[in-house]
Amino acid sequence: MSSWSGVAEAYRTSFATMCEGTVPRLLSDTPGGHHLDVGSGTGALAAAAAAKGRTVTAVDADPDMVALSRDLLPGAVLRAALPDLPFGDGTFDAVTANFVVNHVADPHAAVRELCRVARPGGRVALTIWTSGTPQWARLVSEAFGAAGVVQLPDQRLSPELDFARSVEGLGALASSAGLAPVVATELLMHWTIDVAAVWRGIAGGVGVAGRTLLAQTPEVRALAETRFREAAEPFSVGGVLTLPTSAAYVVALA
Ligand SMILES: C[S@@+](CC[C@H](N)C(=O)[O-])C[C@H]1O[C@@H](n2cnc3c(N)ncnc32)[C@H](O)[C@@H]1O
Repeated sequence: MSSWSGVAEAYRTSFATMCEGTVPRLLSDTPGGHHLDVGSGTGALAAAAAAKGRTVTAVDADPDMVALSRDLLPGAVLRAALPDLPFGDGTFDAVTANFVVNHVADPHAAVRELCRVARPGGRVALTIWTSGTPQWARLVSEAFGAAGVVQLPDQRLSPELDFARSVEGLGALASSAGLAPVVATELLMHWTIDVAAVWRGIAGGVGVAGRTLLAQTPEVRALAETRFREAAEPFSVGGVLTLPTSAAYVVALA
């Protein structure tokens, strides 16, 4: 079972808004025409591309994410998973994968596939979260520690499949797939979100933190929520957090 199974709605009302921070940049750095968004999640990026007049196709591996994307996108939304996309070589002018290649089993094969479906001279744009611990994750980690949460076994990829979760690592991943990076940089953003919404995402099983929480006893889960609200309180204004985040961002020519 995929780690995205059953979490689409919890994701939509929590961490999706963090991932949306890159959408304006992804659209300004990729050309119009036929646009493929892979791992479309809620469909926010695909819908924004369509609103700019692009002909958009969205795909996601998870059926509930496909349903969310269909709610937002007037164009084609398919269920498909990297590294096997149901499109011919060179089909798209722009291909985006926003916080997706950090979630696949074989990132090198995934990026080769993104490259394959982009037309020669088209652009492939990728984002990932970098390997540091952002503030939201520090608050969760503090709460988990105080509540006695037991960590899950290490879920990292084996070294031969993995890549460095950094601008350099993402650029090298793109280059090794046959792409030519034209932009490789860090995007610094702020995520404005209710304390309650962050917790809804985690309690709904989103990400490693969510999966870890769901593996705990009900008592530990309840205590972790109390500790999270306490940890977040000094940083919130009226229950709302504004948290710095940092993504690695690469745009490359196919
Ligand atoms: C962090 S979410 C990002 C969603 C969306 N791009 C956004 O910015 O909100 C990761 C998404 O990738 C999808 N995904 C995971 N593995 C995938 C794969 N192998 N192929 C296609 N989509 C995948 C998940 O179902 C999920 O919707």
